[in-house]
Amino acid sequence: MKKHNYSAGPSILPQEVFEKASKAILNFNDSGLSILEISHRSKDFVAVMDEARSLALELLGLEGKGYQALFLQGGASTAFLMAPYNLMKENGKAAYLDSGTWATAAIKEAKYFGETVVVASSKEENYNHIPKGYTIPSDADYFHCTSNNTIFGTQMKDFPATNVPVVCDMSSDIFSRNLDFSKFDLIYAGAQKNMGPAGTTLVVVKEEILEKTGRTIPSMLDYAKHIKAESMYNTPPVFAVYVSLLTLQWIKAKGGVAAVQKLNDAKAELLYAEIDRNPLFKGAAAVEDRSIMNVTFLLNNADHTETFDGLWKAAGISGLPGHRSVGGYRASIYNAMPIESVQVLVDVMKALETKI
Ligand SMILES: Cc1ncc(COP(=O)(O)O)c(C=O)c1O
Repeated sequence: MKKHNYSAGPSILPQEVFEKASKAILNFNDSGLSILEISHRSKDFVAVMDEARSLALELLGLEGKGYQALFLQGGASTAFLMAPYNLMKENGKAAYLDSGTWATAAIKEAKYFGETVVVASSKEENYNHIPKGYTIPSDADYFHCTSNNTIFGTQMKDFPATNVPVVCDMSSDIFSRNLDFSKFDLIYAGAQKNMGPAGTTLVVVKEEILEKTGRTIPSMLDYAKHIKAESMYNTPPVFAVYVSLLTLQWIKAKGGVAAVQKLNDAKAELLYAEIDRNPLFKGAAAVEDRSIMNVTFLLNNADHTETFDGLWKAAGISGLPGHRSVGGYRASIYNAMPIESVQVLVDVMKALETKI
């Protein structure tokens, strides 16, 4: 039986993407060859890379606005160091918002490159909210934030107005909601949540902010080199890029990011309404910062854990336990999660009331 997959990542992708991807492993484009055995320089694969790059920009509304999309390797964790390498001047400084574990990891990498100012942090409250009311130094080389905190279930609803370039880790909410993406100068996202399998990282960068640091950057870490090579500086992760393209095509067929956001909002409302209604549960994140992608919640009485765990497992739900730093539960309801699966979870939460 197919499970209701609430895994935080790698995570659920559309069923039709899995089906098309499986077919391409056996016979890609009716070529008689697997996508896994053809050259990345072949006409068929170059077409995949080109379409994936242009569709990513199209879905974000960034076509023709001076941006480039790249599909790189090394995960978002490598982007943590590529951002300062490519943007922080020699003897320059960067500003960071510390909204969670991944933001902290990004800050750690930036410190290898130069002065790193943490403008605000919610660490003292175990990152249960997004810090607000901070000032970004106007002489920073860039400001870095994390749009969605996968572990804590918080999400930035507003982004600060600033004169410095804005860098955003969108790993866990890329393509899930409509924003004015032209406010960002560098966006990166590991594919393995809303876009594809693990193995590639989408980077969307405004070209004019590059090559201004005075640093000598090793080739594989240099965004400008990857742009010149059209995201083929070395052998790209061909299958991860192909599956990402299939997901982007699925998003487009659904009507684009705005249409997908409507579905995501409805799923999140359904689940948060039950968390707030049901006296057995409470939400883990501050209400105004609740994520529409990762819904974190706790049982009010830990004695009910065994009964609740038994109920959701019996209902075919998988991947629900929360991250160890929050405890409780985390329902990751990425783009591909159908509302019917969310209803199954809500029904299980209701059922718990009758079982205790
Ligand atoms: C918001 C965010 N940033 C960064 C990462 C790290 O990504 P990667 O494992 O691709 O390096 C994750 C992983 O879950 C994440 O959720």
